[in-house]
This record gives sequence, structure tokens and C-alpha cells, in this order.
Amino acid sequence: MTESSDQTNPGRTVVTQMSAVYPELAGKVAVVTGAAQGMGATFAEGLATRGVHVVGADINEEQMLATAARINTDLESNALADKPGRVVGARVDVTKPDEHELLAQLALKEFGRVDFWINNAGIFPFALAEEITPEQIGATLSVNVEGVLYGAQAAARHLGPGGAIVNMSSVSALRVRKGRGAYCTSKAAVAHLTESLAVEFGDKGIRVNSIAPGYIDTAMTKWVQEDPIALASALDAVPLHRLGSPEEVFGPLLFLLSDSARYVTGHSIAVDGGSRHV
Ligand SMILES: NC(=O)c1ccc[n+]([C@@H]2O[C@H](COP(=O)([O-])OP(=O)(O)OC[C@H]3O[C@@H](n4cnc5c(N)ncnc54)[C@H](O)[C@@H]3O)[C@@H](O)[C@H]2O)c1
Repeated sequence: MTESSDQTNPGRTVVTQMSAVYPELAGKVAVVTGAAQGMGATFAEGLATRGVHVVGADINEEQMLATAARINTDLESNALADKPGRVVGARVDVTKPDEHELLAQLALKEFGRVDFWINNAGIFPFALAEEITPEQIGATLSVNVEGVLYGAQAAARHLGPGGAIVNMSSVSALRVRKGRGAYCTSKAAVAHLTESLAVEFGDKGIRVNSIAPGYIDTAMTKWVQEDPIALASALDAVPLHRLGSPEEVFGPLLFLLSDSARYVTGHSIAVDGGSRHV
């Protein structure tokens, strides 16, 4: 892994390249939701760099298509990517079960198979418990929980033995946070749902795990990054005293998809710098 310091955020370390190589992943096919930006975009790029073909899907179709085009162009000139995969961008609203099936059909049409399903799309609304509206509650549970379940249903229809599903949970699954009750509840549900799915899909030889990130440097944590007091308080709870980068979440994701994790299912990996409280 090579590291460089981020001049715009002194003290923070940016991981620019992960060294772990899993040659068995080359030629496999992954669906990644919420891939227009943030961690999903990093996952799509990292997988394609290792020869995995990707259907990257997002509700923001324009940004998704631009991200897919940018990754494909970058990979053409990336000397580290020997035989890169291709990223195909698509629109999806993860709250719609049928749209997951369309993603699977797209993967089959473009690449002939589906091996991995990364349920990454999520929303992080702020609303105090006394004020939260039915619409906000519904949207949070619909995107963050139902979206994961519908993705898993499509994956179960198309993944074969050796297939793997990874769901994005959060440290918020275990801890509460003011104004984020619906979000924390939704991520606790994702962790629990992951265990349930692992029990059911084990018969098919499909593994299901989740990742529980802490504070990761994406648009979702802009609110804390732009508030020096909130940032200091947040990092005080992180033994490594910095935000994580999307690339640092990609490493554990890669492990969970790889043969190295072939006896790992129904678990959650925390990627949070050792976070102890919020
Ligand atoms: N950033 C963090 O610190 C952090 C921490 C813990 C967990 N997570 C989780 O990781 C995942 C990725 O987070 P991120 O930080 O990259 O967020 P992000 O906001 O940068 O990206 C989320 C993506 O999901 C897409 N999306 C939202 N609703 C959708 C829908 N209905 N259908 C399809 N796509 C939809 C958005 O358009 C966006 O591109 C989320 O599930 C989030 O809850 C993030």
C-alpha cells in the first residue's frame, strides 16, 4: 500500500493504491449500487482495476454514466491494471425490486454472469425523533433496508455457488447518534438482515457479509468535515485520529469477495479506525 499526505487536510493520510492482489477475481462480474460517487465509485474502480467487470448503478444516472466513463478511460492508461474489467453504468432506484432484476439482466447481457452483489447505496438524513416525518422514516428504511433486501433477492436468483453479497452497514448499527435515529435503526437492520440472508443463502453456496465503516471521507461526512468542533469530537473517538478513505474500505471488501474469505459468512467487518464511541 502506498500512502501520500492530503495537503487540503493536513494530518490525514490518503491511500492511493492497495497492494492486495486476488488473481481469482479476474473475469468475475459485480453489481455495485450507489456507485456514482463516494465508496461505491471507489469499489467499482478498484474491482475493475483487478479485472472484475462491473455494473455500476445509481439513482443519479448522469453522474453514474460519467463515473463509469471516467473509470474506463483511466484504466486504459493505468499500467497497474494488466487486464482491467469494464464498468457499465446504469440507473437504479434500489427501492424498486424490479430495477434490481434489470441490473442482473444487464450484467448477464454485457458479461454473461453475475458473481458479486454490493448493496452500497444509502442515505443519511438528519431529523430529531420528535420531528421526523413519516416520509423521512419511510425513505430511510426503504433505501437503506428494503434496497438491500431487494438487491439480495436479485443476487440469490443469479449468483451461483462461490458468489458473494456484501451489504454496507455502519458503526451506527451498534451506536446511537442524535438526529440519526432512523439511520442508525436502518443500519442495525442491515447488520441483522445480513445474518439472516447468510443463513438462508448458505444452501446455495452464496456468502453474505456486511462492512461497518466509521467516518469515511465522502460527501456523506461533509457535515462533520466542515464543522471543526464536530470533527474534533468525532476524531477524539477514533484511536487512529483521522477519517478513513474509501480505498481503506475497499481493502476489506476485496477480502470478503476473495477466496481468502470463502469460509466467512454472516459477519460484519468494522472499518472504523478503532472507533469507541460517538
Ligand atoms: N461515509 C461514511 O462515513 C459512511 C459510514 C458508514 C456507512 N456508510 C454507508 O456506506 C454507503 C456508501 O456511502 P458513501 O459515504 O459513499 O455515500 P455517498 O452519499 O457518497 O454515496 C451514496 C450513493 O447512493 C446513491 N443513492 C441514494 N439513494 C439511492 C437509491 N434509492 N437508489 C440508488 N442509488 C441511491 C446516491 O446517489 C449516491 O451516489 C452508504 O450505505 C452509507 O450509509 C458511509
